[in-house]
Amino acid sequence: MSKKVLIISGSPRKNGNSDILCGQFEKGAREAGNTVEKVNLRELKIGYCKACYGCRGTGACVQKDDMESLLEKMVAADVLVLATPVYFYSMDGQMKTMIDRTLSRYTEMRDKDVYLIATAAAGRRAMARTMDALKGFTDCLPGAKVRREIYGEGVYQRGEVESTPAYREAYEAGKAV
Ligand SMILES: Cc1cc2nc3c(=O)[nH]c(=O)nc-3n(C[C@H](O)[C@H](O)[C@H](O)COP(=O)(O)O)c2cc1C
Repeated sequence: MSKKVLIISGSPRKNGNSDILCGQFEKGAREAGNTVEKVNLRELKIGYCKACYGCRGTGACVQKDDMESLLEKMVAADVLVLATPVYFYSMDGQMKTMIDRTLSRYTEMRDKDVYLIATAAAGRRAMARTMDALKGFTDCLPGAKVRREIYGEGVYQRGEVESTPAYREAYEAGKAV
């Protein structure tokens, strides 16, 4: 069955390591006949959550920016892919800012299959807190299941991930959604 797959690439670095893994996932998921969209947070204007709770009862954020359409896509997707570089042992600010802005609609994001992608200069053990932080978000989504965590480890310069097992792994994960 064809699924709606939404890939959210959080790196500010175009064609960086996590972005490349997103591309691999996208390729696999498309080849398997799914409807796939990749969104690059670096191209969007997304303000910080102001904790004004203006969304309470309305389900709509008071800020009118690119988060409005991204929320629509997130609610509609069957599969969510969240990809971030590790910055100081956590996700980057772009990903966290986006996650905070789901406040108005995250309870509508039901029964998603979730794939997590992280890239870091260090090894897998140093990436645990980043994956945990992403799962802190997905734990809040009703019925969400994390299907796979993809670790692009030991990659510093743009493109280094292409010679790691994660490159193939991301493709295979996309193919099997
Ligand atoms: C601000 C900043 C903080 C970083 N912090 C870490 C870190 O804590 N641990 C680590 O292993 N690598 C760290 N890195 C390296 C990146 O995680 C690494 O280069 C990764 O491959 C970048 O992924 P990208 O190409 O998708 O942006 C940091 C890089 C930047 C720019």
